Amino acid sequence: MVLFSVTKKATTPFDGQKPGTSGLRKKVTVFQQPHYLQNFVQSTFNALPADKVKGATIVVSGDGRYFSKDAVQIITKMAAANGVRRVWVGQNSLMSTPAVSAVIRERVGADGSKATGAFILTASHNPGGPTEDFGIKYNMENGGPAPESVTDKIFSNTTTITEYLIAEDLPDVDISVVGVTTFSGPEGPFDVDVFDSTIDDSKVNELHKNLRKMGDLICNCYDALHGVAGTYATRIFVEELGAAESSLLNCVPKEDFGGGHPDPNLTYAKELVDRMGLGKSSNAEPPEFGAAADGDADRNMILGKRFFVTPSDSVAIIAANAVQSIPYFSSGLKGVARSMPTSAALDVVAKNLNLKFFEVPTGWKFFGNLMDAGMCSICGEESFGTGSDHIREKDGIWAVLAWLSILAFKNKDNLGGDKLVTVEDIVRQHWGTYGRHYYTRYDYENVDAGAAKELMANLVSMQSSLSDVNKLIKEIRSDVSDVVAADEFEYKDPVDGSVSKHQGVRYLFGDGSRLVFRLSGTGSVGATIRVYIEQYEKDSSKTGRDSQDALAPLVDVALKLSKMQEYTGRSAPTVIT
Ligand code: G6P
Ligand code: ZN
Repeated sequence: MVLFSVTKKATTPFDGQKPGTSGLRKKVTVFQQPHYLQNFVQSTFNALPADKVKGATIVVSGDGRYFSKDAVQIITKMAAANGVRRVWVGQNSLMSTPAVSAVIRERVGADGSKATGAFILTASHNPGGPTEDFGIKYNMENGGPAPESVTDKIFSNTTTITEYLIAEDLPDVDISVVGVTTFSGPEGPFDVDVFDSTIDDSKVNELHKNLRKMGDLICNCYDALHGVAGTYATRIFVEELGAAESSLLNCVPKEDFGGGHPDPNLTYAKELVDRMGLGKSSNAEPPEFGAAADGDADRNMILGKRFFVTPSDSVAIIAANAVQSIPYFSSGLKGVARSMPTSAALDVVAKNLNLKFFEVPTGWKFFGNLMDAGMCSICGEESFGTGSDHIREKDGIWAVLAWLSILAFKNKDNLGGDKLVTVEDIVRQHWGTYGRHYYTRYDYENVDAGAAKELMANLVSMQSSLSDVNKLIKEIRSDVSDVVAADEFEYKDPVDGSVSKHQGVRYLFGDGSRLVFRLSGTGSVGATIRVYIEQYEKDSSKTGRDSQDALAPLVDVALKLSKMQEYTGRSAPTVIT
């Protein structure tokens, strides 16, 4: 057995190691600075209770982006030096974020061990490669992202750190080969267990086992955008459900995502969008169902033939149909939740079905407490995240399986027949029953951080006089309703009582429409301003309009009210979703 020793390395703090909405994300070149990653990892170990480090089992893996392989070796050596007993690594360092959550919650090692946390190596939907982004975040024993109390502690540790521990003489482990390697250190044995995570998520496996063979409705176009979802898609859609190999697009994970932006939306999932008949060079005969995932496979985009399902509608439709269509929920839903900027489509379903409902700040970590307390079964965000209490992360593949289950249920009597109930039919029927929330989001990326702050401050200060706001709005457009309330969203967690302030500026209109402004917490350079625009239409005869037409008046109001161009110099958003 190879012996290793522990070295104490002197270090000094780096500025700006504050975890954002979902961990620390910076350019790879920032992470490559000597001690940079090490400082963050040691600060995390120091923020955890001793028994979650010494003798513990920790997962280390991610979406396989550039620098992951180096990071796995560094973290493994630091884990060994800090007295961790076992490190579990996905083969080739690949594990989707939802799979990490499932592995923490469910995997039992050959020796009966269970994991108490994970370092997830991903910058999610941000591009990868030597000049792009890397990221790291810590997930807790429940499988969910560390709460703010922990991330605040990590950050505070990064500002005072003076040394870290590392087993410099521990040899690199070959993470391309499945198996357990045992080393011996000053505190006893240390194992590195490399395994294939695509066969470990039993709840998702359960879901697809429940899907009957659905002929043409099988996920017949899946775009992994060269992220980690490709490994799971091959196994689940092709090997288990019988979809054709040709239905997989960009399903070979790449360190730089093939030079693309691994974000599943109408702008970046271009190939899928074309195949589904929604692009400029569109396919003449698009398939009935298509989907995409982001780099770490927690996000999803659902498309029908020439039809886009907004993420806000998607979670509402899944919630409305879950009990009948998805066996996991057959005994009922404990409750549902959405993030604040997500449209209120879910609220209407919750009200109609008499379900507990929660509105939380942006960031998946806020759903975890509700789920741990048995208060929420299904939740989602406008940012292409949908999930359930089977784990504590959003789950891109689960969302696809949930939709396929709904399609299977709606078509149970006529599978293979000519009266197929399509994705579009399901969405239009939903609007007919619950009304439609027309929805769009404008993103202004890489804006000067000072200008973005000023724009937000101005929106807050205007809230002190709604009559002035309404006067201004009437000058911009006379055809929008009045603002009846405006505030900065604040959330008191009903489980632990913690309060999160300044979670976005809201303007709420009399007809149920909303404008929301927020600064993104996931960018790595400058600031990103997000404008969320939503208009509610109850009248079922008016739910079939073109979305951009229906939203045009509110968009106009949003941009002029916020003085977007004046503050940012931008005449158009970087991305519209
Ligand atoms: C990550 C989080 C989500 C969040 C999203 C957008 O994906 O897991 O919960 O909605 O980032 O965050 P941002 O702060 O960029 O709007
Ligand atoms: Zn992601």
